[in-house]
Amino acid sequence: MTHFSATAAEPLTGITAAPLSLFLLGATGRTGLPFLLQALARGHFVTVYVRTISKLPAAIAVHPRLRVVTGELHEADKITLAVRAATPDVVYVMLASERAPHTAVSTGTHNMLFALRALKATATGEPGATPFISIAAWGLGPTGAYITGLFSRLFVNVATTLFWSKPLADFETQLVEVEAAKDAGLIRPTLILPPILTERAKTNSYLSGEPHLMKDAMGVTNFVSRASIADLCLKLGERAASGEAVPQWVAITNP
Ligand SMILES: NC(=O)c1ccc[n+]([C@@H]2O[C@H](COP(=O)([O-])OP(=O)(O)OC[C@H]3O[C@@H](n4cnc5c(N)ncnc54)[C@H](OP(=O)(O)O)[C@@H]3O)[C@@H](O)[C@H]2O)c1
Repeated sequence: MTHFSATAAEPLTGITAAPLSLFLLGATGRTGLPFLLQALARGHFVTVYVRTISKLPAAIAVHPRLRVVTGELHEADKITLAVRAATPDVVYVMLASERAPHTAVSTGTHNMLFALRALKATATGEPGATPFISIAAWGLGPTGAYITGLFSRLFVNVATTLFWSKPLADFETQLVEVEAAKDAGLIRPTLILPPILTERAKTNSYLSGEPHLMKDAMGVTNFVSRASIADLCLKLGERAASGEAVPQWVAITNP
């Protein structure tokens, strides 16, 4: 397995040599939209599945390498048709479960996995596991053990009590399905673990890497911009699509 070092990000510049087919849930979100813009600028083909097309900037909605499909996350057949048409090299989940009914992340993931299963059931030959990249949060999965110290634990407890308990429960539901799909050889998952998100511009100075390398740089009150997360997700997707092993858990923060 590749071990990323917790070092500064290398810039992504220019048009990629190998345009990919990317499938994105959450394109109208504050991370999904910068990701979409960056992916198109890199020369990739992107299929987005959104519930409200008017939330995409008009100039982007007509981009020649963008396919927009509208539907709700629970409409598994619609997602399946969209995934089949895209035959994606990498799939992305940039949804948020912070609003009622607090199930967007797990529902979108469930039906994305349903669609990939359907796609692989009719594939010729031996279909490989699809890279699957989704945004979680520092403290989830194996990183719960890294939330140490009185202040950090208090901060997380207060945040969970006030607004985080339902999104957190939905992430846990997602993770169970993601693990099962990984074990079944359906996907190669990468879960991104940021601290607090900001609307600032993308930087080339963010730190990213496997949690055990990043734990001393991370903190529950650290920040990182959504645009920098988009940059990291694009870079990891390109690496995974080229066959490179990408870690299942990748933390990101500003220095
Ligand atoms: N806020 C933080 O500091 C923080 C920290 C760590 C991790 N995170 C996580 O980072 C992820 C990305 O966050 P973000 O701020 O970029 O998200 P965001 O701007 O709130 O975008 C959420 C996306 O999910 C879609 N969505 C939400 N509920 C939906 C539903 N019921 N049906 C269909 N689509 C739905 C939204 O679609 P519409 O545009 O149609 O509503 C939008 O595209 C989230 O999972 C969040 O929990 C956040």
